[in-house]
Amino acid sequence: VSILQIRPLNASLKDWAIATLTAQWGPDGMVTRGKIHYYRDLPGWVAFYDQHALGLTTYWIENRQCELTSLNSLQEKCGIGTALLRTVEEAAAAEGCRRLWLITTNDNTSALHFYQKRGYAIAAFYRDAISQSRALKPSIPFTGNDGIPLRDEIELERILGLI
Ligand SMILES: CC(C)(COP(=O)(O)OP(=O)(O)OC[C@H]1O[C@@H](n2cnc3c(N)ncnc32)[C@H](O)[C@@H]1OP(=O)(O)O)[C@@H](O)C(=O)NCCC(=O)NCCS
Repeated sequence: VSILQIRPLNASLKDWAIATLTAQWGPDGMVTRGKIHYYRDLPGWVAFYDQHALGLTTYWIENRQCELTSLNSLQEKCGIGTALLRTVEEAAAAEGCRRLWLITTNDNTSALHFYQKRGYAIAAFYRDAISQSRALKPSIPFTGNDGIPLRDEIELERILGLI
């Protein structure tokens, strides 16, 4: 039987987390809504599957709202992504946040599937936002998943009071 464990992103996991985020999303930080969140500053959670670190999520709390700044599963369709998302929801609610929100991009159709099935609604659409993000992070590619042009930000949200 495989065992899934979620642990806080502590100091001993920080180098692994920064390397994982860099491999998945490019160097230094995530850009959302025209702001950069440096990987080294972000709290998070790590999923261990049979003792291997196979998933990572990071978040940022401000003004009683929690932004999910990243979610990555290194072994998909085993429940890792859902477990990490639920962990952030519980932690954010425990810290008094009433809203969890995140930005994904227009090419990420699997993220739109994943979050909408888990209680998230599309809350805003920011046309061409990625061209502004590239000013802060020039490594953002022009082509995203499945060969789709990477152009727009899509904001999803879940109101936590309803959990
Ligand atoms: C989106 C992402 C985080 C999902 O992670 P994941 O670990 O595959 O998530 P889960 O395993 O919890 O769920 C994925 C699917 O597997 C299914 N699943 C979960 N456990 C399963 C199991 N034991 N057997 C078969 N299927 C299973 C789930 O039902 C789900 O399908 P559904 O969405 O149709 O209900 C992952 O695909 C990923 O890292 N994507 C790339 C990065 C990214 O785009 N992140 C989000 C952008 S902000």
